Amino acid sequence: MKYEIYNDNCLNALKDKMLSKVDLTFLDPPFNQQKDYAFHNDNMEEKEYWDMMADVCHSAYDLTNKGGAIYFMQREKNTEFVLTCLRKAGWTSL
Ligand SMILES: C[S@@+](CC[C@H](N)C(=O)[O-])C[C@H]1O[C@@H](n2cnc3c(N)ncnc32)[C@H](O)[C@@H]1O
Repeated sequence: MKYEIYNDNCLNALKDKMLSKVDLTFLDPPFNQQKDYAFHNDNMEEKEYWDMMADVCHSAYDLTNKGGAIYFMQREKNTEFVLTCLRKAGWTSL
């Protein structure tokens, strides 16, 4: 098993840098709840935020082996948005 750490915007890594497919993605994004991050604006417009999450879910899907999985951390109150993101990206639930 090999390990690589990409200190970069995950979308760049997922789209341009990661070459080998993966079996599991652990997605722990900012929750867009005005938290004070050093390098991230956690007070995005709702649409902009969920469009970004959809882009990440799409890119992770494209990089996942058949039968692979994604673990998407988010607040319970946003469950429907999370499921919509995942479904649109092609993920299905067991
Ligand atoms: C919820 S925190 C992750 C916490 C981490 N999993 C832990 O357990 O310590 C979300 C992090 O995502 C980073 N982030 C925001 N947008 C990003 C992006 N496009 N690519 C990579 N990281 C990003 C933020 O700066 C923040 O540090």
